[in-house]
Amino acid sequence: MAIVSAKDMLIKAHAEGYGVAQININNLEWIKAVLTTVEELKSPVILGVSEGAAKYMGGYKNVMAMVRALDEFYNVSVPVAVHLDHGTYEGAYKALAAGFSSIMFDGSHYPFEENLAKTKEIVAACHAKGVSVEAEVGAIGGEEDGVIGMGEVADPKECQVIAETGVDMLAAGIGNIHGKYPANWKGLNFEVLAEVQRVTGGIPLVLHGGTGIPAEMVQKAISLGVSKINVNTELQLVFAAATRKYIEAGKDLEGKGFDPRKLLAPGYEAMKETIREKIAVFGSANKA
Ligand code: 13P
Repeated sequence: MAIVSAKDMLIKAHAEGYGVAQININNLEWIKAVLTTVEELKSPVILGVSEGAAKYMGGYKNVMAMVRALDEFYNVSVPVAVHLDHGTYEGAYKALAAGFSSIMFDGSHYPFEENLAKTKEIVAACHAKGVSVEAEVGAIGGEEDGVIGMGEVADPKECQVIAETGVDMLAAGIGNIHGKYPANWKGLNFEVLAEVQRVTGGIPLVLHGGTGIPAEMVQKAISLGVSKINVNTELQLVFAAATRKYIEAGKDLEGKGFDPRKLLAPGYEAMKETIREKIAVFGSANKA
């Protein structure tokens, strides 16, 4: 199937009460792990690409070329969106020009009026090409590719105004953070989430920082209007742990165990298992 905008898959998820995973990709193994697993499970998916990851993979055009070719190679039949994650103003236009099917413009660090003006402009440019847009209100905490958010809880009134720009999905900070959660984390703020959903008229909401949020909390968030859950760190952790185990067991020194096709296989399988677990929690299997 061709690469599609995230709009329709999120409208369907929102109407039917499940979540679509945004799995962030980092290289060939990541793209293969996601595409083959969602095809097995007949689940829609969004491939998240941060600006740093795009640079690492040889630029936005190369990301699109790799995803398109692998989508074809594996005969992927489920809807797949390629989505810029936490895009800057300049990055949003570059990813759009390279053929990304979905764009997040993260203007949460700008003064509100500037976030609003830039979001409006990007919505017009993206919608003219059938590309979906995500905006952010209330910076998500933690660090991602050098972008540091302070972990704010969004102001529902600001969410309402940003939603009126016509964005297709909205990320609102509700106490979620990127990366591992601290032991004293207070959990998601469901009151604010419910209020944001109420005032935004049922726009699909996005939960960033999907790594380490307990399954019941994610499911409650889905029941309150979250339709997209972003997961990045967790795949990196399971990939690293499985690779470490392989090397510490001395397997790279046995026969041709140093061949990347063998060396990276345990990490690849570990990522596939994590994707299966996430899709089971989010409820998107057989929803393609
Ligand atoms: P984690 O790295 O915490 O899973 O968050 C991913 C994310 O929100 C990407 O935007």
